[in-house]
Amino acid sequence: MEITRVTVVGAGTMGRGITQVLAQAGIVVTMTDRDDESAQAGLAAIEASLSRAVSRGRMDQEEADLALSLIEVEAGFNSVRSADLVLEAVVEQADVKRGIFRTLDEQAPEHAVLASNTSSISITSLAAATSRPTQVVGMHFFNPVPVMGLVEVVRGFETSDGTVESTSSLARRAGKTPVEVRDFPGFVSNRVLMPMINEAIYCLMEGVATRESIDEVMNLGMNHPMGPLALADLIGLDVCFDILEVLQRDLGDPKYRPCPLLRQYVAAGWLGRKSGRGFYEYES
Ligand code: 3HC
Repeated sequence: MEITRVTVVGAGTMGRGITQVLAQAGIVVTMTDRDDESAQAGLAAIEASLSRAVSRGRMDQEEADLALSLIEVEAGFNSVRSADLVLEAVVEQADVKRGIFRTLDEQAPEHAVLASNTSSISITSLAAATSRPTQVVGMHFFNPVPVMGLVEVVRGFETSDGTVESTSSLARRAGKTPVEVRDFPGFVSNRVLMPMINEAIYCLMEGVATRESIDEVMNLGMNHPMGPLALADLIGLDVCFDILEVLQRDLGDPKYRPCPLLRQYVAAGWLGRKSGRGFYEYES
């Protein structure tokens, strides 16, 4: 199935980035959020990101204008009725996502694919909230979306080959490389990444090295573009904490337990870049 109209549900960091890359690929996208203010804030962030791309010479003004002209924003779910694919990118809470999938299933056309950008919640459980489990799939983008090349395409228990193919083809049109994985807790990306970040936090808690030294070891020694503590700040410490809890609970293995220092940071509201303070300090 050729996907021509997409609705992205959620105008946060990931929803904005996904909307931007789809529009840049010539796809008509509506970005929705609970209220008009949040949707408009998402649009303003996309405008700023496109202007930056123009000023840095990565895109010309015409391309940026064309991408913007393909984006609509709304509060609510009106656009879902005419979407070929709906991509949910809201907060990482299973109950909230399941509620949204129930609504999407009621409103979306019969042929539409329902995708989730979840980092760790079971696609199979989201599919079970709908009457179309073969058309439910994970489409997991990475932050910052305009830069990162991967989309992890997550095949739920009942996801059809056609759904995986349409989703992968959309990812390719958006300039990304789709990689198919099965629906297991944390998929591949976060099952491998989060224990590394957690271990770096243990190193900090145990005084093995300073935050800068831990990051420098991984940066220079392993050629990672940024160290694990700086990366945790980029992802959001609450998001890292939630994913580790899913891994610990759903794989039933204590090796995934979140480091107590991470728990304290989250309790203190030190959530990384978005709150201005995480393992490092950020200007607003
Ligand atoms: N939007 C668009 N472009 C951006 C961007 C953004 N938010 N952030 C960075 N860029 C691009 C721009 O091209 C920028 O060039 P510019 O300054 O001329 O505009 C270029 O990247 C370089 O940016 P910076 O000079 O600010 O910084 P770096 O060279 O250090 O690169 C980085 C920043 C791309 C974030 C790089 O450090 C990196 O790749 N880090 C690893 C990111 C990563 O691992 N992400 C995955 C996280 S896991 C995830 O998302 C899954 C979830 O489920 C948890």
